[in-house]
Formats: sequence, structure tokens, C-alpha cells
Amino acid sequence: MDLTTIKSMIRIKEDFPKEGISFKDITPVINDAKAFRYVIKKMCEDFYGRDIDLVVGPEARGFIMGSAMAYELGTGFVPVRKPGKLPADVEKYEYQLEYGMDALEIHRDAIRPGQRVIIVDDLLATGGTVSATAHLVESLGGIVEAFVFLIELTELGGRERLKNYDVKSLVEYP
Ligand code: PRP
Repeated sequence: MDLTTIKSMIRIKEDFPKEGISFKDITPVINDAKAFRYVIKKMCEDFYGRDIDLVVGPEARGFIMGSAMAYELGTGFVPVRKPGKLPADVEKYEYQLEYGMDALEIHRDAIRPGQRVIIVDDLLATGGTVSATAHLVESLGGIVEAFVFLIELTELGGRERLKNYDVKSLVEYP
């Protein structure tokens, strides 16, 4: 297995979910046992033996990559969800989209001050989702050690937005 093979397995669906979007579908990768295991190990590569307490992943595909990474690294996993989904006390962060607002929530008791976390998602585009996730982590006193993605869309400015952090991705598209 190698990253060229992984890239060839990512299904590109034009004009999904709306016109002008070239959707990168990871389901063929996670459907294949060898490919799934390979990408998770690759995404974990820099973190074995490091002092990481938690993996944090935003809904929905961040749950898939993030919980597999947490299992592999022997850490806990923290879900970051759209409003109204988490049952206990939450911290909420609202952020601007191109049109309108969006919000994400995290359980207040999910991270203790000083815990070291990595934030994981399937894909980095504008960086809005993971920036909001980092705000939530930091508002609870967590330390963001790195961001890890399977896919990075390099022309949408995500890496620039995260320039004060360590950012790792496996496969790039313009
Ligand atoms: C996609 C993707 C990332 C986010 C990246 O999620 O899985 O979470 O967009 O975009 P950004 O860097 O511009 O924030 P989507 O909004 O499709 O939500 P879903 O995973 O819940 O379907």
C-alpha cells in the first residue's frame, strides 16, 4: 500500500452536494481493510510515543478517522458535534460561513486543563471546522499539539489559517 494507491481510491464526485463542489469521497478507502489500516497508521506516524492524551474529531467524518487514531495511539476520543447533539454541559463556538453562521459544541468535562490533544478530520478545506474545534479545545484549557488530515485542499487557505500550529496531511488536491 502507498499514498498513490490511496489517492486513486478516493472517489471524486463533481457537483456534490451542490454545483461547483468537487467532493472527495473517502468511503472506498475506509471500505478496504488494508487501505484503512494504512492511512490510520500513516496519520499516527508522528505521534507514537509522544505525550498525547486525547484525539478530538469533528462530526461526522472526523469521528471515523479520529476514533481509529485514538484506538491506535491508545488515547481517549472526544467528539465535537453540531448543536443539540451532546447531552451534558457544553461549550459552544459560533463561527462565520460564507453565507450565515455555524456552530460546534464540546462537552465541558471532556478535556482537563493542560491535556495535550490532536485534532483530526478527513479533510482540510478552508479550515473553518478545525479552527472552531481548536477554539473549543483551548477554551477548556487543552493544548493543541497538531492537526491531522487524510486530505488537504491546498488552494482554500486552511494551512495559512492554521499557521501557528503543526499541520499534517497525507494527500493533496489543488
Ligand atoms: C467537511 C469535511 C470537514 C470540513 C472541511 O465536512 O469533512 O469536516 O467539511 O471544510 P472546512 O475546512 O472548510 O471547514 P462537512 O461540512 O461536509 O460535514 P459532515 O462531515 O458532517 O458531513
